Amino acid sequence: MLILGIESSCDETGAAIIKDGRYLLSNVVASQAEIHDRYGGVVPEVASRQQLTTIIPVLETALEQAGCGWENIDAVAATYGPGLAGSLLVGLTVGKAVAMAHNLPFLGVNHLEAHIYANWLRGKIAAASKETEDSDWEYQEGDPIFPSMCLVISGAHSELVLVRGHGQYELLGRTRDDAAGEAFDKVARILGLSYPGGPAIQKAAQHAQEELEQQGKSATQALNAYRLPRSWLRGTYDFSFSGLKTAVLHLAEGAAGEQNVQHTRSSGNAGKQVNQYTRMGVQAAQRGGANVELLAASFQEAVVDVLAVKTRLAAQEYHVKQVVLAGGVAANVSLRERLERELRPLNIRLKYPGVEFCTDNAAMIASAAFFHLLRGEQHGLDLDVEPGLSLPFTKK
Ligand code: KG4
Ligand code: ZN
Repeated sequence: MLILGIESSCDETGAAIIKDGRYLLSNVVASQAEIHDRYGGVVPEVASRQQLTTIIPVLETALEQAGCGWENIDAVAATYGPGLAGSLLVGLTVGKAVAMAHNLPFLGVNHLEAHIYANWLRGKIAAASKETEDSDWEYQEGDPIFPSMCLVISGAHSELVLVRGHGQYELLGRTRDDAAGEAFDKVARILGLSYPGGPAIQKAAQHAQEELEQQGKSATQALNAYRLPRSWLRGTYDFSFSGLKTAVLHLAEGAAGEQNVQHTRSSGNAGKQVNQYTRMGVQAAQRGGANVELLAASFQEAVVDVLAVKTRLAAQEYHVKQVVLAGGVAANVSLRERLERELRPLNIRLKYPGVEFCTDNAAMIASAAFFHLLRGEQHGLDLDVEPGLSLPFTKK
């Protein structure tokens, strides 16, 4: 079964053609990150306007790269929430329109559920074929196994979810304030690093560790260079990251006039060094005299610490054999490595999507849609956007 997936919930425009919920024929993503970088975060009006100009070329490219015509497509799926209303509206409207024009079944997809389904995606396959290679559509070798403990960590959500089967989600804990990705983005802004903050902080932290190693020191020193608080909220699986963010802010704003931040980064342009601190973060970071890269490394470690330990505890309590990561923050290398170390001695497997499937993409939308369509579900063309949509929990 070939599904055209469409994603437009925030600042990425995506279209993908996926076979049997797993195999990639094409996956096109146009990111607006560069546009929003100058504002230090997503500007909703700019995002929706940009979605409007990008969606059709992205859709056409996805069909072209898959070597598909409309006659090959079996169903259309588009994100209907959660996300920015104006951005969601673009992808949902286009999805419904092409489904109507080509007389295809249509399914609206929950973006958070789709992040989980990114774990079903494999690599690219060569040619568009409507034939299914495996007769068992529900389970194929390499799929996540149930029940699994899923850590959903995106720009706006941080949730620990027990997944008992397709569409069966039990909420165990969630953030009480900032989401993990939001904390990465806000701290990056405080430190004057680029948007989105996650990859920028990861890069700064890696650089800090490499520098220590070059000096013959242990790279792990970077992780505790600054003593930052961890909010454990013991006895619950909830998270809280706003205290940590404020602690970074105080350090970055700290003792005025101590010393300047010493860091520059490569512009990626023939090794040319450019000053990294271009926004309000400049003053904050320089005023504090804090070492931005060490502070980034210590912040990342504090987030990873809490996410990894609480996920491991939940996995143990619910006796699952697999932990699954979902959402943009699942791309974080330190988190993946730390969770591997936590889970291996317990014989619990860790599964996470390829980096390109962690952040927003349309392949995961088509994958989630596939399993709904298998259950005979579809939506009418009167489906509207739901910016505040949450996972469809069976138990909270
Ligand atoms: O899932 P996503 O692409 O969008 C939402 O649905 O929100 O997640 C975006 C978030 C951003 O906050 C971004 O900073 C974070 O994922 N992110 C990362 C990494 N890559 C993206 N956070 C930590 N480490 C990364 N490597
Ligand atoms: Zn997302």
